[in-house]
Amino acid sequence: MSREARRLSRDLPSGIVLLGPPGAGKGTQAALLAARLGLKHISTGEILREEVQQGTELGKKARAYMDRGELVPDELMIEMLDSRLDGRFLLDGFPRTTNQAEALERIAKVERVLSIRLSEEETVRRLTARRVCADCGRNYNLVSNPPRVPGVCDACGGRLIQRDDDTPEVIRRRYRVYEAQTAPLREFYRQRGLLVEVEGGRAIEEVFQEALRLLEEGR
Ligand code: AP5
Repeated sequence: MSREARRLSRDLPSGIVLLGPPGAGKGTQAALLAARLGLKHISTGEILREEVQQGTELGKKARAYMDRGELVPDELMIEMLDSRLDGRFLLDGFPRTTNQAEALERIAKVERVLSIRLSEEETVRRLTARRVCADCGRNYNLVSNPPRVPGVCDACGGRLIQRDDDTPEVIRRRYRVYEAQTAPLREFYRQRGLLVEVEGGRAIEEVFQEALRLLEEGR
């Protein structure tokens, strides 16, 4: 069935949205939750970084915004997401503005929204210690979740690198952008009865178990 036909029949893709400031653990929890719940993990940050790496038109347009820690314009993001949503999904990094949330309501059915909280200081501490596999994208943290061999991915043997936007100055900028533009979405989804919240400043497994419980309660 075409996307337009599905829209008309309201047989839309459905799933879960993760919200939270930079470093809250959206990517970490999304990978665990998607595997456990059998959902397709869609990270808009990850897709954008691939587009930048491949030098596509979208990547060229997005790069300057990402390097400054600002949001990529809504029209680019909505078009990008619309072409990728299918089946049952877990969205990590979208929506980030009210415009994006309203667009999402037109193209998919959001069943639950999990918001992960984290303070600015903990965000800076975590993200300056983050390393990412250049080949498979797996996330590590030099303090809380180090690789077995320094600089080498446990999963695929790839090289671990630091993201361009993980400098203290850009991390703080991203945090402020989150508070101004994305945090209001908690109220947007609370009003729709979809929001559950979890404190992200605890061990990965503890956050995961609580997130799972909250999400399954709402199903
Ligand atoms: P994006 O890639 O989405 O970045 P972000 O939201 O800033 O989030 P992060 O990926 O930094 O953190 P995370 O919450 O996923 O944490 P993680 O699990 O990695 O977006 C990047 C940019 O793309 C944006 O700035 C924007 O320019 C653009 N963009 C993307 N989507 C957009 C949209 N919809 N609209 C417009 N622009 C968009 O964990 C962080 C670290 O902590 C890791 O090292 C991890 O190992 C560690 N860790 C995780 N959990 C724990 C824990 N419980 N305890 C200790 N350590 C932990």
